[in-house]
Amino acid sequence: MDKILLLHGANLNFLGKRNASHYGTLTLEDIIKITKAEAAKFNLEVIAYQSNHEGYLIDKLQAEASNCVGLIINPGAFTHYSYALYDALLDAALPSVEVHLSNIKKREDWRKKSVTAQACIKIISGKKEDGYKDAVKILAECLNNADY
Ligand code: DQA
Repeated sequence: MDKILLLHGANLNFLGKRNASHYGTLTLEDIIKITKAEAAKFNLEVIAYQSNHEGYLIDKLQAEASNCVGLIINPGAFTHYSYALYDALLDAALPSVEVHLSNIKKREDWRKKSVTAQACIKIISGKKEDGYKDAVKILAECLNNADY
């Protein structure tokens, strides 16, 4: 089965305890389950990692990219400043979709900009857990498109 890498960054291990109006009430485990179930519909397997450490996410990207056909990433706050993660995404050269549970465009000014999304084919923001299902669909469609 083709594999998708699912990466979560800083503080996302605390989902379920964070501000529900921004992030909903589901835990990270729930979100991973939902993403895996959606991916299975397209015959895709999900490998998931979370870390509060930028370097760990880069290490995982470097180690796993060649085993995977696509990537879904919610970098948490790394989104807004991690040029290192941006470079790692470019180097991974995988079709990547960035997901945010909250609508980053409607929050603080510093949160409106994503550095990492510039290495992704799409950014989905503000759809809570449904954003992950959309990301799987986008990747599946992209992978089926022979022109990609
Ligand atoms: C987030 C948005 C980020 O700005 C924030 O730092 C997070 C979560 C989201 O999913 O909405 O930790 O990535």
